[in-house]
Amino acid sequence: MNKIDSINTAKNPANPLVCLTAYTFPMAQSVAKHADFILVGDSLGMTLYGMDSTQGVSLDMMINHGAAVVRGCTGKPVIVDMPYGSYEKSDEEAVKNAQRIITETGADAVKLEGGAHMASRVRAITDAEIAVCGHIGLLPQSAPDEGGYKIKGKDDDQIQNLISDAQALESAGAFAFVIEGTIEDAAAQITRAVNIPTIGIGASAACDGQVLVSEDLLGLLHGHRPKFAPDYAGLAGIIDEALERFADDVRTRKFPSPDHLYGVKQ
Ligand code: KIV
Repeated sequence: MNKIDSINTAKNPANPLVCLTAYTFPMAQSVAKHADFILVGDSLGMTLYGMDSTQGVSLDMMINHGAAVVRGCTGKPVIVDMPYGSYEKSDEEAVKNAQRIITETGADAVKLEGGAHMASRVRAITDAEIAVCGHIGLLPQSAPDEGGYKIKGKDDDQIQNLISDAQALESAGAFAFVIEGTIEDAAAQITRAVNIPTIGIGASAACDGQVLVSEDLLGLLHGHRPKFAPDYAGLAGIIDEALERFADDVRTRKFPSPDHLYGVKQ
């Protein structure tokens, strides 16, 4: 079984899939020990680069971070997001850019945002023998054009549209898809309507697996953390405290001590 088949065939309520994001080599080394698969999300634009949205992320950024993550992950499938502007225009351009991502990073699959209207892109990329993960519900790449991050699947019409999106992605050959920012009933109906795994983020436990941005769940970021992301580690506070101690040690000449000097016998 190849790495992507291990995700594709894992639709099992008793055994939910774990996906975590990584953007860098050291985070990939940590995440790969615990996740079933790793996503190099274009959320890196906001999380790592401090951008206002993911729309400013370029293909080269995704390739550089994708390659670093692949170097840090042994044995686990790595999926790299196709950034805004790299796949929307035509099937040909989508295939060309997906091929660049896979060839230049060594990743196992790409992910792109959108439902039925992106089915042709998903089909074209899978026909080029590249595995594709879909992404429906709240689509961060479209959020700035929609006036913000809005929860989806709030009424029957929206749920039916999302189910059509999900089925279109499955028919086009996607091996799995992310459901982001929907109410629980929508996620449950979508998950029941397809045979491929659904990976939720802010979409409830009704999905076949869960993905979170690692920096969110580690509490590494200052400021806003999404409602759906618990803080497991409070790392921002731990880092602040360590850096404050270092700065104090320099200012009071406690650092460097003889332990940190070359040519001093201990
Ligand atoms: O960009 C990203 O990190 C994502 C996940 C949050 C699903 O798409």
